[in-house]
Amino acid sequence: MNNRIALVTGGMGDIGTAICQHFIELGAKVIAVDYVDKTQTANWQLQQKQLGFDIGVVYADVTQFESCAMMAKEVADRFGSVDILVNGAGITQDASFRKMTPEQWNKVVHTDLDSMFNVTKQFIDGMVTRGFGRVINISSVNGQKGQFGQTNYSSAKSGVYGFTKSLAQEVAKNGVTVNAISPGYVNSKMVMTVAENIREQIIATIPAGRLAKPEEIAWAIGFLAAERSAFITGINLPVNGGLHMY
Ligand code: CAA
Repeated sequence: MNNRIALVTGGMGDIGTAICQHFIELGAKVIAVDYVDKTQTANWQLQQKQLGFDIGVVYADVTQFESCAMMAKEVADRFGSVDILVNGAGITQDASFRKMTPEQWNKVVHTDLDSMFNVTKQFIDGMVTRGFGRVINISSVNGQKGQFGQTNYSSAKSGVYGFTKSLAQEVAKNGVTVNAISPGYVNSKMVMTVAENIREQIIATIPAGRLAKPEEIAWAIGFLAAERSAFITGINLPVNGGLHMY
């Protein structure tokens, strides 16, 4: 990945951090996009530096097109052209449908699905023009199988597949691949928001018998981002310990 520039939205989250670190190990220059305050960002960046990972950071609200446009300009000015885009920013607001508020629906759909448009739109023309690009969209096992309490999240994450497959067809001739990855339950803050008793019940249904490590998601993303993965496009790669097979 020498000299490739990778941009990771949600880059400061648990999975995002593992992706940034792995891409650096693979020789890319990495920029994390996140939406947290300056102190938190600076602390995270320093912590990464102390671990030997020099990661650029930019701010964007992925639910807002204009914020993403400003972020893309900053990235172009400070770092150069983005070759690899990982659309990783995502949230949950779990509630059974009968209790779900319009705010819970909108927040999740804007963050997990609208972000695909808002962010990818900023970088796809450059990739097409240069004849190389990797777009990797993080979906979820629950976009594939649905989940009690996640009509908002499952809808958005299923939408990620449609987006991936359509865009993959549009840019395949230009050396740009577009793929989705569907993590199962990962040892992350997001999964820890699930009540312990429910979480334990879920883990009991995972054939691997455990949560994924964030690095295990990052490795699969590294595979899709590789130069040699040029003929893999429009797929959904499940990384779920056997929780859902199809
Ligand atoms: N399956 C079946 N029935 C369930 C259930 C489940 N998972 N959860 C609750 N119920 C049942 C309860 O037993 C209860 O039944 P009774 O009325 O007969 O007693 C009824 O549904 C309660 O319904 P409520 O609407 O009151 O549900 P709740 O408010 O108690 O719980 C919830 C709703 C908090 C969303 C809970 O279902 C839950 O935590 N579900 C899991 C959500 C989940 O997996 N989130 C993943 C987050 S991490 C992530 O998303 C990352 C990724 O990509 C994998």
